[in-house]
Amino acid sequence: MKIVVIGGTGLIGAKLVNKLREQGQEAAAASPTSGVNTLTGEGLADALKGASVVVDVTNSPSWEDAAVLKFFETSTRNLLDYEAAAGVGHHVALSVVGTERLLGSGFFRAKLAQENLIKSSSIPYSIVRATQFFEFVKNIADFSMEGNQVRLPPVLFQPMAADDVASAIGRIAIGTPVNGTVEIGGPEQFHLDELIRRDLAARKDPREVISDVNARYFGIAVSERTLVPNHDARLGETRFEDWLDATKTASKTRPQGA
Ligand SMILES: NC(=O)c1ccc[n+]([C@@H]2O[C@H](COP(=O)([O-])OP(=O)(O)OC[C@H]3O[C@@H](n4cnc5c(N)ncnc54)[C@H](OP(=O)(O)O)[C@@H]3O)[C@@H](O)[C@H]2O)c1
Repeated sequence: MKIVVIGGTGLIGAKLVNKLREQGQEAAAASPTSGVNTLTGEGLADALKGASVVVDVTNSPSWEDAAVLKFFETSTRNLLDYEAAAGVGHHVALSVVGTERLLGSGFFRAKLAQENLIKSSSIPYSIVRATQFFEFVKNIADFSMEGNQVRLPPVLFQPMAADDVASAIGRIAIGTPVNGTVEIGGPEQFHLDELIRRDLAARKDPREVISDVNARYFGIAVSERTLVPNHDARLGETRFEDWLDATKTASKTRPQGA
């Protein structure tokens, strides 16, 4: 069974391709780096030849409102058209838990547009909605700066390791299309402000985190459960502290400059 991973050079895509190959699957990575561009259609027909499953783990290079909408709409339309022509039997796409509760942001409006195009196409599909990746936590602090402080709301937060995201998508990709949405999340719930405080402390980052019920998440007003998955979400195994320890060990053993 040939599985094409569009965005196969990205954080999730590269892990997914490796995991599928380790299981003996025929997995191919496709992205602009390998001459496949979902925006223009370049290289898509060749890349999808003989494919049974296509996994879309691309991301837009720009998160500006109009650019990100154009990216996910154009890219998804092209992909679904080329998949129909190639006889692909399963389209898997990675989206975000709570997307419909985060529509104050252009990024999430674009993700919802992507999901809706998939739902209305003729290709059997599985949409996988993940919570925020541990690897993304630092970006939240950087984006939430006011002066030299980080200001965040104390809402529930259930992030997960990118490695667990890739494993979950891999299992879904080799299974039967669900023609619906599967939610995945981390094994533990935190409060957003508290987790960012722990992450910064572990990195010896001196920035102070201010807890503020009125603070926004990427400019969006959020409430207690906006960012957490439903009770039937499939949970990853990696705990945040273990991931932090492993990340610290990896950076200590990495050769300088790598
Ligand atoms: N960050 C989070 O916490 C989070 C949580 C839940 C879901 N997600 C979703 O996860 C998905 C993947 O995120 P990621 O962090 O793994 O992304 P990433 O590391 O930024 O990788 C993006 C990938 O998209 C490819 N790409 C960009 N433009 C393309 C185009 N025109 N045609 C084909 N491929 C293109 C890139 O290829 P090149 O390397 O060749 O440029 C790269 O392989 C996103 O859709 C995001 O919404 C993210």
